[in-house]
This record gives sequence, structure tokens and C-alpha cells, in this order.
Amino acid sequence: MRSMSLDHTHVQEFFTARAADWDSRFPDDGPAYAAAAAELGLCEGDRVLDAGCGTGRALPPLRAAVGASGVVVGVDLTPAMLQAAVRAARDRAGRLLLADVTALPLRSRTFDAVFAAGLVAHLPRPEENLRELARVVRPGGVLALFHPVGRAALAARQGRVITPDDLRAEPNLRRLLTGSGWRMTSYTDEDTRFLALAVRED
Ligand SMILES: C[S@@+](CC[C@H](N)C(=O)[O-])C[C@H]1O[C@@H](n2cnc3c(N)ncnc32)[C@H](O)[C@@H]1O
Repeated sequence: MRSMSLDHTHVQEFFTARAADWDSRFPDDGPAYAAAAAELGLCEGDRVLDAGCGTGRALPPLRAAVGASGVVVGVDLTPAMLQAAVRAARDRAGRLLLADVTALPLRSRTFDAVFAAGLVAHLPRPEENLRELARVVRPGGVLALFHPVGRAALAARQGRVITPDDLRAEPNLRRLLTGSGWRMTSYTDEDTRFLALAVRED
């Protein structure tokens, strides 16, 4: 429990420092988010969770996919990111919730899908935490783990080298998802997109 709160403090400090100019640093990502959201195959009236929604960049395309009768919830741990989402009026597209995705204050099997952009690398205990995302999704529901930059391009940008134990390497991620209630159904890792899709097992 203690190490968990340290992790959270680190995440909050990191993203609080970046919240104000988060969107202006990545001004051209909108179409990539819309395309990734479309891969969830959402229908009118569906319920979708944006886990680690940050400034809410995915909320408008998720709302467009589920329509006015659907439910869109964005959850994030960092108040400054959610405040930036409100300033950008993205709270019009979905309900914002200040909460921890590793212990969601949400009922089981509530959602048809979870979208998570740039989240997985920040999870303190990935297998356990992905299982928590599976808990709130109905069997047959879908998970999208997305990043607008592929692994190699992101590592180059951050000045690091990808090692074989990288969480998002295909075999590692497939194993991780299998161990946490998901079945990976597709995996794309190109310079301009990382997208892994998975289905919630019964
Ligand atoms: C790389 S940012 C991505 C934000 C947004 N999804 C996007 O693509 O622009 C990661 C976000 O995840 C949030 N986050 C990290 N760990 C979290 C947790 N345990 N619970 C909720 N949010 C978390 C951070 O606060 C941050 O806003």
C-alpha cells in the first residue's frame, strides 16, 4: 500500500508538470486518436471507459462513436490533467472522474470497452492492474492499448533502447493480457501508431 502511494505521487508530479502544455506539445495527434477509437467497434448506446484519460483527447471521438445515448467516462489520477480537460471543454464529451485505474470506484461489468492511451507503462503492477480493467468490462468487451507513436520511435525520442523485457513487446504483452483476463486479438507497432486490441474473456 505504501509503495502504491509513492507510485501515485510520482505519476501525479510527472503529469502535473506537463498538464498545461500537454495538448500543444502534440497538436497533430487528433486523427490518430479518432482512428484508434474507431478500432474499438463501438455502437450507438455503448458504454466506454477512457482509462488514464489525461486531458481527454480521446473523449470526443469516443462520444462520437457511442452517440448521445451512450456513456463515456474518463478516469485519471492527476487533477491537473483533468483540469486541462475541462479547459479544453472535453467534459462535454464525457464524465470526468478523479480516480485510480488500479482500484476503480466502478461496478463490475459496467462497460463495453476500455480505451487506454499511454497508460500501460505507468501501471505499478501491470497484470493485477489490467485485471482491474477487465473487471469493469463485460465478457466479450474490448480493450485498446494505444500510443500515437510506435515503440521504436518513442524510445528514440526518449533516448533509450528497447530491451527484450519491454512490457509492450508482442510476446510479453500477449502473456500479460492472457494472465489478466484478456485475449489479445491484434497487435500493431509502427512508427506512427502502437495499438494492441484484446477481448475480455468470460
Ligand atoms: C501519457 S499520459 C496519457 C494521457 C491521455 N490518455 C493521452 O493519450 O493524451 C498518462 C495518463 O495516465 C494517468 N495515469 C497514470 N497512472 C494512473 C492511474 N493509476 N490511474 C489513473 N490515471 C493514471 C496520468 O495521470 C496521465 O494523465
